[in-house]
Amino acid sequence: MTVEYDVPPSVTGKLTCGSLREGNAGEGVRLQGWVNRRRDLGGLIFVDLRDRYGTTQVVFNPQTAPEAHAAASDLRNEFVVRVHGTVRLRPAGTENPKMATGGIEVEATGVEVLNEAKTPPFYVNEEVEVDENLRLQYRYLDLRRAGMQHNVILRHRLVKRIRDFLDEQGFVEVETPLLIKSTPEGARDFLVPSSGMPGTFYALPQSPQQLKQLLMVAGFDRYFQIARCFRDEAQRADRQPEFTQLDLEMSFVEQEDVMGLIEALYVELTRSFSQKRFRELPFPRLTYREAMERFGSDRPDLRFGLELQDVSGALTETTFKAFAGVLEAGGQVKAVVAPGCATYSRREIDALTEIAKRAGAKGLATLALDANGLRSPIAKFLSEEEQAALTAGIGASPGDLVLVVADQPAVVAKALSALRDELGQRLGLTDPNEMAYCWVYEFPLLEWDEEGERWDATHNPFSGYLEEDHDLLETDPGAVRAKQYDLVGNGNELGGGSVRLHRRVDQERVFGLMGYAREDLQDRFGALLDALEYGAPPHGGIAMGIDRFVMLLADEENIRQVIAFPKNQRGIDVMFAAPAPVDTSQLAELGLTLVPALNRGDTGGAG
Ligand code: AMO
Ligand code: AMP
Repeated sequence: MTVEYDVPPSVTGKLTCGSLREGNAGEGVRLQGWVNRRRDLGGLIFVDLRDRYGTTQVVFNPQTAPEAHAAASDLRNEFVVRVHGTVRLRPAGTENPKMATGGIEVEATGVEVLNEAKTPPFYVNEEVEVDENLRLQYRYLDLRRAGMQHNVILRHRLVKRIRDFLDEQGFVEVETPLLIKSTPEGARDFLVPSSGMPGTFYALPQSPQQLKQLLMVAGFDRYFQIARCFRDEAQRADRQPEFTQLDLEMSFVEQEDVMGLIEALYVELTRSFSQKRFRELPFPRLTYREAMERFGSDRPDLRFGLELQDVSGALTETTFKAFAGVLEAGGQVKAVVAPGCATYSRREIDALTEIAKRAGAKGLATLALDANGLRSPIAKFLSEEEQAALTAGIGASPGDLVLVVADQPAVVAKALSALRDELGQRLGLTDPNEMAYCWVYEFPLLEWDEEGERWDATHNPFSGYLEEDHDLLETDPGAVRAKQYDLVGNGNELGGGSVRLHRRVDQERVFGLMGYAREDLQDRFGALLDALEYGAPPHGGIAMGIDRFVMLLADEENIRQVIAFPKNQRGIDVMFAAPAPVDTSQLAELGLTLVPALNRGDTGGAG
C-alpha cells in the first residue's frame, strides 16, 4: 500500500523576497525576511526585505498606513519581520533594473516583528572585507551574505548534479563508517578514544579507500559516495582537516574507463556551473615524467607555456664552476624564458632569486637580452656558444629574460616550477575565465623514504602498476610506474586515483617492499588482504576533492569560502571553540590521563 503525502501549499507556494514581478501588481501579499536596509526619508520609510531568494523594497507611508509606518521607524538591520501589503509598480524613473524585483515595491499595510536583532559585528548587507576569524565566529551571519550564499548554493547544485550523473551511469551511493581503523593516505590520523574498551581508539578515515575496495569484493561494481575525509596535516589555502571527496570505485575497468567517466563528468560540471572556456578538449594527458620535464610539477598550470628547457647538453665543457660542479654530480641545468622581462630591475630579479632559493636552489642565474645585447652576471664565465645556447638556442628573443637553475633534478623542478607559476601570475597569463584541465598519469609507484630507509607509496599503497614494469620491482623499485592518475585543473590537484592490486600476493609483495612486517600487515590491512582472497574483481577508482573544485569554479582563493562551517588556518573551529579541553571525569571514563605539559593551554586548542 502506498500512502501519498502532499507538501502543504503554505510551503510549496511560499512567496519569497525574490519572487514578485510587475505581473503581481495589485496583489495583496505577505512577505517575511530580514531587514537588509532601512531608509527614513522623513515622510516615507523604505525597507529592503531580504531572504536568500532576493530583496524586495517595501514602502511605509505615514498617510495611508500610520501604524505600520510608526512600527517601521523602530526596525533595524537584521530584524526578522513579516510585512503585509499590496504589490504595486514603482513610480516611473525609480525602477531598479539591477534587481529582479526592481520593477515593483510592496506598499505596507502592516508589519510584525518576528524577532529583533542586535547590531551585527560586521555588515551583512555589503561585501566588505571583514576579519576572517570574526566571520568564522559569527558564521551564521557571514552565511547570510550574498557571496557565501552563492557559494553554498553552488556547492549544493554541483553535488546534486554529480549524484544524478552517476545514478544515470548505474552507480550506487553507499555510506561508509567514520569510526574505523586507520586507513592511510599519508597524513596523521584523528583518533577517537573508545569508552567501551578503554585504551583503544578508532581512527577517522583519511578516505574510504579500503572500504570502497571491500565494496568491489562485495559486488557493488559501481560505487560512489560524497564522503567526508579527515586528515591531521598542515593547513594550506586549499586544505582543510575535514573535507569532502567524490569518492568512486568501479570493477572490471582499466584506467581509461575511470578517466573517461570523470572527464565527461567534469566537462558537464564546468559547462553547467561556470562561464569558463576549456583550454583544450579532450583533456591533454601527460605522463608524470613528461609533466616533470616540461613543467617541473605534477600539477602544471597549462593556461600558459613557459616550459622548462634542459640546457645541460650545451654546458658539458663549461668552465663556470656552479654549472660544471652540478653536472659532474649528476645534476642538470634547466632554464625558463620569461618573455619581455629583460628590463626587470635588480629588485625584481632579487625577488625571483628568493623564490628559487626558498624552493631549495643554491642560486638563480639570469641572462637579459636587452637593446645593448646580453646582460648577465654570469656572461663572463660563459663562452659565446654557451651564451647562444642559453638564449637564442632556447627561443629567447631580444627583450626576454632567461632564468637558469643548476642542481639535482628534483630541486631544479621545484625551483623552476615555482618561478614559472610566479611569472604566469606576473605576466597575467592565468586567465580565470579559462579552464585548463589535464591528466597526469604513470606516477612512480614507490619513492625512497630516506628517514625510514624504505620504499613508500607515492600515493596510497593499493595502486597497481604497469605489467611491463613487473620485473623492475626486483631490480629498480623506484622506476616502477603505477596505474595512477591525477586530474589537474589550472594548477590544482583536483583528484587522483588508481587501478588497484586485486590479488593478495601482489598486494603483499608491494607491502613487503615498503618494509611492513607480516604481523603488522595483518593487523593494519588484514581485512582487505583477506578479502582479496575471496574473489576480488579487478577494480580501480578515483577520489575528487569537492571543496577544491567548488573553490575553483567560484573563483575563490581559499577553501574556507566554499565550506559552510570550516576550521580556521590553525585547524580551529572558532565558533564552537574546538578542539577544547574536556572534564577529567570524561578522561577517566576513557581510561586516559594527560601528560602534565599537555594539560590545557599548551594543547594548541582553541579553549
Ligand atoms: P587523495 O589523497 O589524492 O586520494 O585525495 C583525493 C583528492 O582529495 C582532495 N584533498 C583535499 N581537499 C581538501 N583538503 C584536504 N586536506 C585534502 N586532501 C586531499 C584533493 C585530492 O586530489 N583514496 C584516494 C583516492 C583513490 O585512490 O581512489 C585518495 O584519497 O583534491
Ligand atoms: P657565484 O659564483 O656563486 O657568485 O654565482 C654567480 C651567479 O650564478 C649568481 O648569479 C648566482 O645566483 C648564480 N648561481 C650560483 N649557483 C647557481 C645554481 N646552482 N644554479 C643557477 N645559478 C646559480
